[in-house]
Amino acid sequence: KHVAVLMGGLSAEREVSLNSGKACAKALEEQGYRITPIEVDQDIARVLQAVRPDIAFNALHGPGGEDGTIQGLLEILRIPYTHSGVLASALAMNKEKAKHVMRAAGVPVPGGVVVSRTEAASRHVLPPPYVIKPVSEGSSVGVIIVREDRSHPPQELGREDWPFGEEVMVEPFIAGRELTCAVMGDKALGVIDIRPASGGFYDYDAKYAEGGSIHVLPAQLSPNIYQRVQESALTAHQALGCRGVSRADLRYDDTPGGSGALVVLEVNTQPGMTVTSLVPELAAHAGFSFGELVRWMVEDASL
Ligand code: DAL
Ligand code: MG
Repeated sequence: KHVAVLMGGLSAEREVSLNSGKACAKALEEQGYRITPIEVDQDIARVLQAVRPDIAFNALHGPGGEDGTIQGLLEILRIPYTHSGVLASALAMNKEKAKHVMRAAGVPVPGGVVVSRTEAASRHVLPPPYVIKPVSEGSSVGVIIVREDRSHPPQELGREDWPFGEEVMVEPFIAGRELTCAVMGDKALGVIDIRPASGGFYDYDAKYAEGGSIHVLPAQLSPNIYQRVQESALTAHQALGCRGVSRADLRYDDTPGGSGALVVLEVNTQPGMTVTSLVPELAAHAGFSFGELVRWMVEDASL
């Protein structure tokens, strides 16, 4: 089979995608596929028509690659592709809309509100501590945590050159653990407990710098909580209509005197596939090498 690996793109996660794409292209080549790597830009439609691959391996992240737009193009060009389709991609990329769908399916999600970025810059929308995030970005780009002791709302949101959209999502900060769980087809994989090395939050650097975070797999949780994480990830995947592999990110407040809440923050329909990424690690734990994982994704691809 001839597989085009789509990578790069124009989002803030371009570099992450190049790393995901290169790792996947190399592994697919080793698996015996004929590979054409494609760095995605505005010419992608013409390039795909010229290359005419049997399958598109989508290694893109963020707007333009994870939000249903490239998926729509691939549908129109009749090129089967990996990961989620148009609707699930568009829904999951919008953290606010995705929360409505997950909540309706019984998946616990955090409360919160969507406001304009200028409003979030002018007053504390929630009592600190709280989190402000772009509605449609990934890799924690643009995420701001407003701690208890912060008297002013974050001023950077009011700046003219704020690049992450006019609306932001404001959610109460949930103390405790950062957990992640991937879904592969109709099964949830294991659960990772992520401990950022800096002691801060799981930000861009903690995600991609070598040694930026420690991953505890399997996460040290009671069997009951472990299973609830897996069930939540699988239900969220299905409620959003995801296909192939997705990854749910969760918070679990296990702090003394804390709420004990377990909530799904979001589902990533194009989870990272770099060497420090979580999905390859979860797949390995389930017995799939990186090569076997990308092979599975290609064989699962469809329109
Ligand atoms: N948005 C990044 C790539 C992830 O979810 O892994
Ligand atoms: Mg994400």
